Amino acid sequence: MTRQEYIETGRTTVAGWFAQRDAMLFDAIDVSQRRVGITGDILEIGCYQGTSAIMLGYMKQPDERLIICDPFDGETLSAEDDTERARYYTDLSRGTFENNYRRFHAELPEIVAQPSSALHTQSLGQTFRFIHIDGSHAYDQVRSDLLLAKRFLKPNGVVVFDDLLSAHTPGVTAAVWEGVANDGLVPLFQTIKFYGTWGAPPEIDLPELPWYEHDVSGHKMLHIEG
Ligand SMILES: C[S@@+](CC[C@H](N)C(=O)[O-])C[C@H]1O[C@@H](n2cnc3c(N)ncnc32)[C@H](O)[C@@H]1O
Repeated sequence: MTRQEYIETGRTTVAGWFAQRDAMLFDAIDVSQRRVGITGDILEIGCYQGTSAIMLGYMKQPDERLIICDPFDGETLSAEDDTERARYYTDLSRGTFENNYRRFHAELPEIVAQPSSALHTQSLGQTFRFIHIDGSHAYDQVRSDLLLAKRFLKPNGVVVFDDLLSAHTPGVTAAVWEGVANDGLVPLFQTIKFYGTWGAPPEIDLPELPWYEHDVSGHKMLHIEG
């Protein structure tokens, strides 16, 4: 299946939460990075059954790493994670993720089957051009993931946080806007997800979706509808 077919239809054959609007934005960021020769690794924290990770698999180039971090059905780190697991996830097994991923790509990504806090102690450097954070939605964990992304994201890279705007994830909203206020995170645009950077990514050719501009605390940012 081509990348475009995955964005339009293939995506919906994998359980999860990855809207077409965001798939189109991931695609646009990747194309814009490649147009100006930006290379680098890709990281996802929180894959569930793989719908967004498979899209990242289409973005990965042969000389780049794709790292997927998820504890799958292992131990959770907070009561909030336990509640979320019971309410929203039907099958958190690594096997289901791998089977889904193999339907679209010949080779699996590098898998860290642990909570993202384990990434702090791995020998990773500032080599990432794209980081998608969609793991624990508990405030402390998202804050930790944000600081991890700040360390690992290249100056021209983009970080994406899922569930900025979901009623059941106030910890994400708080941690992300704290990052903007105190840690130099620069907002670019938002859907239900937040797209930002710590540096100067290339101009992104946005897909044909309605967007509106906002001034937020000295930053110009867009909200994108779809
Ligand atoms: C909302 S789902 C991810 C959805 C997926 N990105 C998609 O597009 O469908 C959240 C995932 O985060 C994982 N998770 C929970 N706590 C985590 C942690 N501390 N570190 C990494 N992943 C975590 C869960 O196991 C679950 O698979």
